[in-house]
Amino acid sequence: MKNTGGTTDQKRRAGEHAADLVEDGMVVGLGTGSTAAHAIRAIGKAVDAGLDVQGIPTSFQSRQLALDAGIPLTSLDAVSGVDIAIDGADQVDGFTLVKGGGAAHAREKIVDAAADRFVVVADPSKLVDALDYPVPVEVLPDARPTVADAVGGLGGEPTLREAERKDGPVVTDNGNVVLDCAFGTVESPGELAQQLAALPGVVEHGLFVGLADEVHVGREDGVDVTRRDD
Ligand code: A5P
Repeated sequence: MKNTGGTTDQKRRAGEHAADLVEDGMVVGLGTGSTAAHAIRAIGKAVDAGLDVQGIPTSFQSRQLALDAGIPLTSLDAVSGVDIAIDGADQVDGFTLVKGGGAAHAREKIVDAAADRFVVVADPSKLVDALDYPVPVEVLPDARPTVADAVGGLGGEPTLREAERKDGPVVTDNGNVVLDCAFGTVESPGELAQQLAALPGVVEHGLFVGLADEVHVGREDGVDVTRRDD
């Protein structure tokens, strides 16, 4: 389930602004979604112009975009670390995120968490005072009923994400299904993150707590940057 607000120009400004942070020799985590796609294309142009980087994609989509853009690819087991990751979000409250609208949050979290610097790119429609977007939870197919019950026990309403132009559910790049779990306003994202992660059969959930270092928000007339260290 995608949060589809924001304009293409806003997304492009955010993505291109973050891509400017990428320097020669870096290993770069390549996020998923329409905003991160602008960063990937901008990095590809810089590679054309001589920038020497290696990208680690977070999904089938970002891998394909990176290949099309001419970015050399690598993987976590072939590098000693990730210098920077650039990724979008479905909702942003300060530096706490809901991700997974594109069902890519499991690989995104692995790569974003591994990065020395995790830069979120977003348009203004993603910014909120409190997270209330349904939390995507990727689950092993066999665990769907038990996880759904447990999410109900935590006060959430799980909905199996249905595919478009395919009968049945969305199947992730990892072969699993996604429950979009509506909790209303999430009062304690850190606590809910731990509770969801503890459920048997949960591969990963879309609450990103304590991971983002910077948020770049594309606006009509520029880009606002907030840094966790400021
Ligand atoms: C992918 O699963 C998501 O985490 C995306 O990063 C998120 O949905 C943001 O996508 P957009 O930039 O297309 O809004």
